[in-house]
Amino acid sequence: MAKLDGTKVVVIGGASGVGYAVAAAAQEAGAQVVVGSSQAGRIEAAAAKLGGGAQGVVVDVRDEASVAAFFEAAGPFDHLVFTAGDWGHFFGPTRDLDVEASKARMEVRFWGAARAAKYAIRQIAKDGSITLTGGMLAHRPMPGMPLTAASAHTTEGLAMGLARDLAPVRANCVCLGLIMSEQVQGMGEAAIKGFTANLPLPRGGTVEEAAEAYLYLMRATYVTGQVVRVDGGGSLV
Ligand SMILES: NC(=O)c1ccc[n+]([C@@H]2O[C@H](COP(=O)([O-])OP(=O)(O)OC[C@H]3O[C@@H](n4cnc5c(N)ncnc54)[C@H](OP(=O)(O)O)[C@@H]3O)[C@@H](O)[C@H]2O)c1
Repeated sequence: MAKLDGTKVVVIGGASGVGYAVAAAAQEAGAQVVVGSSQAGRIEAAAAKLGGGAQGVVVDVRDEASVAAFFEAAGPFDHLVFTAGDWGHFFGPTRDLDVEASKARMEVRFWGAARAAKYAIRQIAKDGSITLTGGMLAHRPMPGMPLTAASAHTTEGLAMGLARDLAPVRANCVCLGLIMSEQVQGMGEAAIKGFTANLPLPRGGTVEEAAEAYLYLMRATYVTGQVVRVDGGGSLV
């Protein structure tokens, strides 16, 4: 298995939750890490908490110039992990669809990921990787939110397209079930139980369990264009 010793790993969305856990795990595996997110206070605090020379840099993935400057400053690196996400993501039922508002809600998770890939490729190592983040609502849509399912598919599709377009740089996607980041903990116990009670593994995953999948995809030098599900078996029920 390829090691991460001596590599440089960039995590956009690394201020909190899954991204922070990926940065911590990559650092533990020997990588130098750069974490990025949109709020200066949060990303600086995350880098300070990581310690070990971790760099925290502000980037707003809704803004192409910000993304370009972020990668210019990052310089050459090996692996990009993209976990940036906003939470205004439940688009509502078909009958009430607000198309313009829905387009705006794709700015961080989808267009942000596309912007990141565009500028990452200028700095990334030929044997490096890009790992995006999707969600199980793509595969288990819920009534009243058809665009949420469609939107969740976009990052998986983007990863597959990037795998062809950017080869030999690898590109993959981690598809998350309910992962107990600070955001998700804020949903409250009843809602969390509602999402997890019927799973083969009837609980939310930890951010550390989610991070394992990203570490695997960084190290798996013959894996590209794939989606790895971290969902407690949710795709089976
Ligand atoms: N946790 C789950 O159960 C779950 C399930 C399915 C999918 N997902 C997806 O997985 C990703 C990570 O989830 P999480 O639970 O770890 O969420 P999180 O803790 O909210 O992490 C999202 C990160 O994105 C950053 N961010 C938000 N807007 C940004 C922007 N415009 N530019 C750059 N960074 C931005 C945030 O930091 P700043 O506020 O500093 O920008 C934050 O660090 C998200 O895309 C989420 O939608 C999560």
